[in-house]
Amino acid sequence: MRYRPPEEKQEATSLRVAHEFDSHADVVLYHGDCLDLLAQIPNDFVKLVVTSPPYNLRKPYEDRLELDTYLQQQRRAIEECARSLAKDGSICWQVGNYVHNGRIIPLDVLLYPFFDRLGLRLRNRIVWHFGHGLHASRRFSGRYEVILWFTKSDDYTFNLDPVRVPQKYPSKKHYKGSKKGQLSGNPLGKNPSDMWGIPNVKANHVEKTEHPCQFPVELIERLVLSMTDEGDWVLDPFMGAGTTAIAALMHSRKAMGAEMVERYVKIAWERIRLAESGDLRVRPMDRPVYDPESGEKMAPPKTVHLGRPIYQLRLLERGAEYKASRRHA
Ligand SMILES: C[S@@+](CC[C@H](N)C(=O)[O-])C[C@H]1O[C@@H](n2cnc3c(N)ncnc32)[C@H](O)[C@@H]1O
Repeated sequence: MRYRPPEEKQEATSLRVAHEFDSHADVVLYHGDCLDLLAQIPNDFVKLVVTSPPYNLRKPYEDRLELDTYLQQQRRAIEECARSLAKDGSICWQVGNYVHNGRIIPLDVLLYPFFDRLGLRLRNRIVWHFGHGLHASRRFSGRYEVILWFTKSDDYTFNLDPVRVPQKYPSKKHYKGSKKGQLSGNPLGKNPSDMWGIPNVKANHVEKTEHPCQFPVELIERLVLSMTDEGDWVLDPFMGAGTTAIAALMHSRKAMGAEMVERYVKIAWERIRLAESGDLRVRPMDRPVYDPESGEKMAPPKTVHLGRPIYQLRLLERGAEYKASRRHA
C-alpha cells in the first residue's frame, strides 16, 4: 500500500502535490522503488538529479548486498536518471565509502565508469568535509565524502553568482597598473571552490529528523541555485527525509523524489508542510562553520516560508480558474 497524506492535509496545501509522476504538479513524492518512478519520467525532462544513494552499509533502511549486486542496482538507477535528464541538465551523485572487513572502498571510484559510459561529463568532484562522525581506531577518522557532478552536454546551466561566498579580503585593491585602487576581487564574492565545509546533520543540528543520514539543506541549496533556474524540475531518486525537495521548493523549483520507506515519505511530506506554514527551521547557507575560538556570535537558524513568486503565481492562476468556473456555472 503506497503512502498518501490524509485528505485534509492535501487540501490545506497551496502546492500541487502528486504521488505518481505528473508534469503539472509542483512536487511529486513517490512511495516506492525509484526505478518505478523513473520509468514514468519522459526523456530529457529533469534539470537536476541530486541524490545520496544507499551506501550498502546496513543502515536501518538497507539490506547489505553483494558488492556486485549493489553496483548493478546503482547502474540501472544511473542509466534511468541520465535518460530523464534535460540536455542542459546535471547529475550530482553524493557518496562516501563502502567498508568491508575494515577496508574502505571509495564508491565514487566504482561508480564513475557507469556515468562515463553514458557519455556524461564530469565537471567537478566536490569534496564535502564535515566535523562529526565515527572515531576510527585502526585508521584516520573519515571526515569527508564526495559529490560527483556530471552534465549531459557541454551546454549546461551554471549560475555562479547566487552561490558566491565572501572574499577573504573583501577590500583588497589592485596596487598598480590601469586598475590601481580598484577592488581586485569580485564584490559579489568568490567562487566557493570544489571543497565545501558544511556541517553534517547530527544530533543537535536544527534540521535533524529521525532519518539516520540526511543531507544538510544548505548543501543542496548550493547545487540547486547554481545548476537550475526557477521553475525547473529537481529529482532525488533516493529521497530519504525529503531534503532535496525542501531545497528545491525554497528556491521556486519543482521537486520530485522516490523513497521506499513509508516513515521517511511521511517525514518528507511533513517537512514540506512545515515549510509552507513558515515553521521549518534550517541552518542558513551563509553561516560559517562554528569556531569556538572566534568568539563571534553565530547567525540563528533561518525559518523557511514557501511564499515565493511561483506559488503566488499559482494562487493567482487558481483564482482566475475559479472566477472563470463561476462565470460558466
Ligand atoms: C542515504 S539515504 C538518503 C537521505 C536523503 N539524502 C535525505 O536528505 O534525507 C538513502 C535513502 O534511499 C532509500 N532507498 C533505498 N533504496 C531505494 C530505492 N530502490 N528506491 C527508493 N528509495 C530507496 C532509503 O530508504 C534511504 O532513505
